[in-house]
Amino acid sequence: MLSFHRTVISSALLFALQLVPIAHANNAPNISASELAVTLAPTEIPQNQDALTYANYTEVSVSHIELALTVDFKQNRLSGEATLDLAWHKAGKTLILDTRDLTISSVSAVNTAGKWHSVPFTLAKTDGVKGAALSINLTEENTQKVKINYHTSDNPSGIQWLTPEQTQGKQLPFMFSQSQAIHARSWIPLQDTPAVRQTYSATITADKAITVVMSADRKILSSTQTQFTMPQAIPAYLIAIAAGHLTFSPLNDISGVWAEPELIDKASQEFSDTPQMIDIAAKRYGDYRWGRYDLLILPPSFPFGGMENPRLSFITPTVIAGDKSLVSLIAHELAHSWSGNLVTNATWRDLWLNEGFTTYVENRIMEDLYGSDRALMEQTIGYSGLIAELAELDSSDSVLHLDLGGRSPDEAFSGVPYVKGQLFLVFLEQKFGRERFDAFVKNYFNHFAFQSITTAQFREYLSLNLLQKYPNIVSEAEIDTWIEGEGLPSFLVPPNSHAFDDIDAQRQTWLDGKHSASELKTSTWSVHQWLRFINEMPRINLDQTKLAELDKAFHFTGTGNSEIAFAWYSLALDNGYYAVLPALKQHLTNIGRMRLVVPLYQKLAGTKQYDWAKNVYINARPGYHPQTQASLDAMFADKPLQHEHSH
Ligand code: BES
Ligand code: ZN
Repeated sequence: MLSFHRTVISSALLFALQLVPIAHANNAPNISASELAVTLAPTEIPQNQDALTYANYTEVSVSHIELALTVDFKQNRLSGEATLDLAWHKAGKTLILDTRDLTISSVSAVNTAGKWHSVPFTLAKTDGVKGAALSINLTEENTQKVKINYHTSDNPSGIQWLTPEQTQGKQLPFMFSQSQAIHARSWIPLQDTPAVRQTYSATITADKAITVVMSADRKILSSTQTQFTMPQAIPAYLIAIAAGHLTFSPLNDISGVWAEPELIDKASQEFSDTPQMIDIAAKRYGDYRWGRYDLLILPPSFPFGGMENPRLSFITPTVIAGDKSLVSLIAHELAHSWSGNLVTNATWRDLWLNEGFTTYVENRIMEDLYGSDRALMEQTIGYSGLIAELAELDSSDSVLHLDLGGRSPDEAFSGVPYVKGQLFLVFLEQKFGRERFDAFVKNYFNHFAFQSITTAQFREYLSLNLLQKYPNIVSEAEIDTWIEGEGLPSFLVPPNSHAFDDIDAQRQTWLDGKHSASELKTSTWSVHQWLRFINEMPRINLDQTKLAELDKAFHFTGTGNSEIAFAWYSLALDNGYYAVLPALKQHLTNIGRMRLVVPLYQKLAGTKQYDWAKNVYINARPGYHPQTQASLDAMFADKPLQHEHSH
């Protein structure tokens, strides 16, 4: 059950721990991406608060990365060099970088005379969470550039390599990165902490049939070489690459869709409202500062719903439902252009600053574009999901300002930073009123633009610019409860959409046996109302015949809507309705989005269907992303897999 109280850390202490960002990039709002070309020199040095990096970034920080890489689909390998520009905050000759499973062939540095010379380096033992520290012994103080020659491993945690058979077109291979949270280090040796921001450029070589895209401005150099430039300083987790058979379809002059040719028309229809979303967000929160906003549709094994790589959000194909019912995902990834990419969490403890703000902004975009009914339905569904999740979660993991306690951010990942963070901001919005709160959020994005900040820095800004500016509305103690407390505050007013009243009533008449499923009045129901109908069904002892009746009337099994499918299979498994297993096997094999597959495996693994689930997993595993593999390997670890490398 939920717990509603916990120790409160004094806000004075939190302010004392505040961190000053190292690199400030351009704050000017009206300059287009291509006009921006500098990272300003770091001014102050933060304390090293990020426990997930080996980098000695308080002594020296990377200001620019230049990549020259070949995408080698024969060996499933990226190889080449990364040249890092360094900014020194203390005199020193040691540069420590993060790596994971990289093979380093040589390291060189530029000396004061401007000459490259090779320098000694050591690669430390690998840690399961953090990878391996690469220590470079520079021969001169104040070294300005270091070059690392390297290649990636067979199965880097931050990259999936797909065979042609695993793509839509079946003709060409595909690869993509997923760097957040700490997987950039598996394909680039760098300072893998969101506290450090750098610009980057890249020259990528690939077979001429392959199209390469990155989270950067793109220029074709030749049939085999593409050049990329990211002139704004970004954290390592936003460096991204994908390569495969891709085509582009414009939505307007600054926005468009990249996808395999087989999917491009469906995708650009589904996401045709993206330009309006950009306008809505920019109007409320300040200019869109990244130049272009494009979407890249990935293969169904993409492990997330979306990833906010700057200028190019990565998107799962599982949201292409045909009716725009799941496009809040686009609003979400777009919203990160302000919350996350412009103002960035300085450590992964502060993830709620990225995801809570983004979930809040996402819902505001949805409200403007599709109306308050839909926005409130989505909020209500999110809230119900959080309540269900809190019942399963360790109560210490229900704190917004999360204690990772040595775990990887992947392991501690939950809906808490998203939905509890959103509820916190909705609380502030309701207390202060939209006019004041909207102005506050817009100013916050401007104030911290191109900086990485901690929860303490947010709190100080909040106190000065909202709590003290409009006194006696919200107390510091209430803020403490939200940010440092477990569970949900007792004073929370939960979102509650009345568009669900009729759904709940009809569900009840059906459960009571007053109507058969086919007699229910469902013709006007939206996808969200269907989700409510399924999600709030009894989770135990719902009769098999009742579930069969539902499926017969509404054909949930095999639905093309991935959220309805997830809701239905969850309901079926919770009630032991195993008639769905053959279809579920197909489903689990076709998609690899963690949020849609991992919980379903979990529901099976705790039952006598363990062996069935394990076998489905063994067959599906080669098609899954390394991060999906890692979390499912852990789940099935108690009984070893029969043939781990079966293809
Ligand atoms: N940035 C996240 C994905 C992420 C978070 C990857 C933390 C690794 C570590 C992305 O913006 C996201 O939140 N995706 C959600 C979208 C949904 C909540 C609309 C997802 O993938 O489901
Ligand atoms: Zn997000």
